Amino acid sequence: MSERFTVRVGAAGADAAPDLWGLFIEDLNDALDGGLNAELIRNGDFEFNEADREGWHALTGWDAVGEVEVRHEDPVHENNAHYLRVTGPAVLANEGWDGIGLTEGDRLWLTCFARAQGEPVRLETEVGDGLARAGASVAPGGWQRVEIDFTAAATGRGELRIAVPEGAVVDLDCVSLRPLDTDGEPLTFRPDLLAALQDLRPSFIRFPGGCLAHGLGLENMYHWKRTIGPRHEREQIRNLWGYHQSRQIGYVEYFELCEATGATPIPIVAAGVCCQNTPGGGKPIPESEMDAYVQDVLDLVEFANGGTDTEWGAKRAALGHPEPFGLRYLGIGNEDQITDAFRDRYARIEDAVITAYPEITVIGTSGPQPAGPDYEAGWAYARERGTPMVDEHGYQIPRWFHQNTDRYQAYDPAEAKVYIGEYAARSNKVRSALAEAAYMIGLERCPEVVKLASYAPLLARVGHTQWEPDLIYFTADEVRPSASYFVQRGFGEERGERVHPVELEGVQAVPVALPREGTARLRSDRATVAFTDVRLDGNRLPDAVTSAEGEGVLLGGIDPTSAELEFEAVQQEGIEGFTVVLGPEAPQSFLEVHIGGWQNKSTTVTRSDDGIGECDHGPIPWTGVQTGKPVRVRVRLDGPRVQVWVDGELRHDYEQDLRPERRVEAGVLSRARTGGSEYVLRLVNATDLARTASVVLPEEGPVSGSMRVLAGAGPDEGVPGETSPMTLVEVTAKGDNGVELELPPWSFTTGVIRPVG
Ligand code: AHR
Repeated sequence: MSERFTVRVGAAGADAAPDLWGLFIEDLNDALDGGLNAELIRNGDFEFNEADREGWHALTGWDAVGEVEVRHEDPVHENNAHYLRVTGPAVLANEGWDGIGLTEGDRLWLTCFARAQGEPVRLETEVGDGLARAGASVAPGGWQRVEIDFTAAATGRGELRIAVPEGAVVDLDCVSLRPLDTDGEPLTFRPDLLAALQDLRPSFIRFPGGCLAHGLGLENMYHWKRTIGPRHEREQIRNLWGYHQSRQIGYVEYFELCEATGATPIPIVAAGVCCQNTPGGGKPIPESEMDAYVQDVLDLVEFANGGTDTEWGAKRAALGHPEPFGLRYLGIGNEDQITDAFRDRYARIEDAVITAYPEITVIGTSGPQPAGPDYEAGWAYARERGTPMVDEHGYQIPRWFHQNTDRYQAYDPAEAKVYIGEYAARSNKVRSALAEAAYMIGLERCPEVVKLASYAPLLARVGHTQWEPDLIYFTADEVRPSASYFVQRGFGEERGERVHPVELEGVQAVPVALPREGTARLRSDRATVAFTDVRLDGNRLPDAVTSAEGEGVLLGGIDPTSAELEFEAVQQEGIEGFTVVLGPEAPQSFLEVHIGGWQNKSTTVTRSDDGIGECDHGPIPWTGVQTGKPVRVRVRLDGPRVQVWVDGELRHDYEQDLRPERRVEAGVLSRARTGGSEYVLRLVNATDLARTASVVLPEEGPVSGSMRVLAGAGPDEGVPGETSPMTLVEVTAKGDNGVELELPPWSFTTGVIRPVG
């Protein structure tokens, strides 16, 4: 039994945004080193250290049998300060990331710097047990570059071993093992991951992030000039996601990736301030260094676009790329707090870029969330300055996406151009992917406002993730696309030139109702907390103690539309505060009030629906709970209104969003073809019902085409780290003046319909 509805397509309207769908790349989840970077050796430079992650050191990733010493006198380069002195007999082993996998016949390129002490030294290298073997001699003298081209004799997985013979003493650094392509060139990018990105047909690629762009501390800020040139001269620094940035994929490789995928680059430079989450807060680049920083930003544009007769264009040519990279956009800042220091630094950078390069579209920033103080302040500042485009971010629950398919219709195209630089519905489940698809239809429908959009994060190595959900998971030998990946691919593959208005007849948005029954619970995930003077709806309850190990304390039943809870809390030990949980028991819809959550720095109200949670209000910065110091909390639910007082201060006062969800969505674009137009259709059915869509086109006559139907067995299918279990089926469609399409429950359908003849 299928529910029918009609998609009535109007005459062509505005031009589609030509660069709309792109990619966001950040070195997060081992996305670059251990991921897209084809390098097979982990910590080949011996530069890992304690600042990257507790317990890491120059030999992390290596096993050594024999005498080895980490040294730093007279290094290969000052930016590659550590190397290894090996006294034979010794064997060094490195298994890369989860083992080095080879297929018989693979050509490999092993390189390193070596310096023999005294006598010449013969190095013997082997991958696995005889998978691939080679050797090279190092003559006495200074640092020499060793290069070995060899071929895998068998298929398997193992570690790289370098053997140094008895009596020999040799210094080693920058050990690298890369596959060679069929032309004998070492690969820059891991081929299967590159292919997965190419298949998305991105119009642009954003780089280097994300938080990585502005860095956790001024010393951690991303400076593009320090990422080009020979590998051993690049600056390697701590990755704020808790590992190491080798910078082997630096700015040149990024631009090359854009070329390899047919994308235009969108570099994001820091707005002259580091991340506000830096301990002690965000800091601006000192006044004395600001001019040089602004010049660096201008030099980036010249490096990308300048003729070879310019200083930085010539450097690009010297690095092997005389052709310009075609930079058209430049982002300044990432989710920054809109402070006076930010305004000052941002203005200087933007003014300089717009003056020197009026053809570049500058993109400003508007905080980490699609609402709230930094969003408001970021937009206000952008309007005041006339910033050409603004970057908005939105990690939300699926419901938010279905409620916001028309979000950008409320923006004034005369003053607002938007880049949705990071967005994702918070899970790898089918329901999240389809919520994104519905939202993307809404983005495509507002081409005069929404110019660019990129899902984030893009890549994640299974077992090495710091953030979920991600678009593409991978292991050492597999690429595992999420459901969202197939949605993104559907939008990227078939683009239109003009957007058509559509009217849906016979389908209703799904109402969002507040639950009428639920419970109140107190919990503390990272502390032990004593609660006294607890009053729920006016009734005094027994005192309670919660601890990190426990599930918390159930206080009793509530009506989530009319409830009041008040108590005093004392954190007895731990590192954070506590949480008030209000609503039906998980996994249905409930609210959590976090007092001293997120490193004990804020108060936040989050909402969880169907086991997927995200911030509903806040985070609002706060001094945090202090061990032994009482905190008085009052929470009041009144219809959709949520109010939270902490020590008498009203910190949260907002109305829950009860707009209905557009679970069934349709979008239509057209593009010119010889003798007329063809239509790109998108249809989302994020419901339990099978539906038949009768698509009525604006032109008479027979049409046919093929559609791809991406369908899940249920909304909760899909877990991080696994390939999406959604099925992709190709169907043909024929009709007169339109087509009838069968939309399975929980599906996304896209494809092209052409006039016949
Ligand atoms: O995409 C992961 C992170 O989310 C980005 O680094 C940051 O900009 C956002 O908060």
